[in-house]
Amino acid sequence: KIIVLDYGSQYNQLITRRIREQGVFSELKPNDITAKELKGLNPTGIILSGGPNSVYGDQAFTIDPEIFELNIPILGICYGMQLMSYHYGGSVERAGRREYGRAVIKRLNDSELFLTLPEEQQVWMSHGDHVTKEPEGFQVDASNESCPIAAISHPDKKLYGVQFHPEVKHSEYGNDLLKNFVLNICGCSGNWTMENFIELEVEKIRNQVQDKKVLCALSGGVDSSVVAVLLHRAIGDQLTCIFVDHGLLRKNEAEDVMKMFREGFNINVIKVDAQDRFLGKLKGVDDPEEKRKIIGNEFIYVFEDQASKLHDIDYLAQGTLYTDVIESGTQTAQTIKSHHNVGGLPERMNFDLIEPLNTLFKDEVRVLGEELGIPEHIVWRQPFPGPGLAIRVLGEITEDKLELVKESDAILREEIKHAGLDRDVWQYFTVLPGIQSVGVMGDERTYDHAIGIRAVTSIDGMTSDWARIPYDVLEKISTRIVNEVKHVNRVVYDITSKPPSTIEWE
Ligand code: XMP
Repeated sequence: KIIVLDYGSQYNQLITRRIREQGVFSELKPNDITAKELKGLNPTGIILSGGPNSVYGDQAFTIDPEIFELNIPILGICYGMQLMSYHYGGSVERAGRREYGRAVIKRLNDSELFLTLPEEQQVWMSHGDHVTKEPEGFQVDASNESCPIAAISHPDKKLYGVQFHPEVKHSEYGNDLLKNFVLNICGCSGNWTMENFIELEVEKIRNQVQDKKVLCALSGGVDSSVVAVLLHRAIGDQLTCIFVDHGLLRKNEAEDVMKMFREGFNINVIKVDAQDRFLGKLKGVDDPEEKRKIIGNEFIYVFEDQASKLHDIDYLAQGTLYTDVIESGTQTAQTIKSHHNVGGLPERMNFDLIEPLNTLFKDEVRVLGEELGIPEHIVWRQPFPGPGLAIRVLGEITEDKLELVKESDAILREEIKHAGLDRDVWQYFTVLPGIQSVGVMGDERTYDHAIGIRAVTSIDGMTSDWARIPYDVLEKISTRIVNEVKHVNRVVYDITSKPPSTIEWE
């Protein structure tokens, strides 16, 4: 396995992910790990990540110098290369100007790191300091005008450094370079898979939990589903899940989720029917943020209520992903925005956390889910917001209005699936804007509701475009909704992108 030492780059977990893509297990460790501890982990290679500091700074992260004596191949990336140069007596200086963005570098020799790569390649640079004199015994492997020392190596010691970021997609041959490092230089076999991840995690969870009990808030979304199944594989009935039905779920959702976990996986799930409680609290409330707040708080009360009825629970399992961790800030990376999984549960409750997905990216979680035998429609499920249909019934929520959204949404989902578009469209749902308009059905004038269809393509929900669903599919959806959902006489299609709109209507 390859150990990546964390020097605070926002992209450091991306390095471990790229290594895993090569079929080699990789994990991130803090930079203050000692040579002895590191050796105990038995790595085949070590990567020193990038980071925002300067090696000369007061706050500079350092490295246990004995790590360089372990005789294990090391690749330093950006700050990692500067740290390596500094250690071996090279010079590191502030660059004339910060170099950020694409750059073309030229390789100068046939260093093993660049083996089979073209002589010129585009790379991604992001640094303020750079190496101005390579340490004695090192050779310069690549360069360009603004960064004459873009890569160095000491082949005998198996030490390598690159100033650019091979883990970032804009580095054209970044993956090949990392592959050269892990497969050729370190000699890893490249046969690691998600199955090995499961084995490792199961072992880890068993060691941590022993004979104690674990609670998990199950929503039926991808992340919490994967956590529940993984935990169940590790500790069986020591796991209890709580599923809160707040009455704002899609049609048949609660039943489907129960069926899958109870019958399909034999997992112990407590289903809390809290529809009345939530709808009662939401009565008369029409402000979207207020609705969100009420639902978030109520969720915590309901969960706490249930948890207090269970005895001797020690752990809370959560589906926190790496992207959630990085957004909340890690020990070394700066906070981008604070993130609360399940509405602030862990802060209020006295549980220790188990977060087995916190090194993974969303698409890796999906692969893991498939490997665990979770059905495809769950693994590839579209995102569904915590407040559920409450933010798709605009304004005050009533049971009648919820019904219109549930029924129209079920038709939309059916037709999107039928047309084979469910993986292409990132998120799709119907909304009830609360507008009534005139129509004619048979010979009669109607004055009924309009339903809006929202369907978007996106990578991460931060930006999105409206999905170009074929007209004939839209026509079928519209006809079915008007015919099958009582009190709807008009269907409109939302053709705005985000920005300036948002994906949800509230
Ligand atoms: P917007 O509407 O902000 O949505 O463009 C972006 C993504 O976030 C989801 N979303 C939420 N998820 N609680 C959630 O858990 C919320 O309050 C919430 N609001 C929006 C939305 O479904 C989309 O995937």
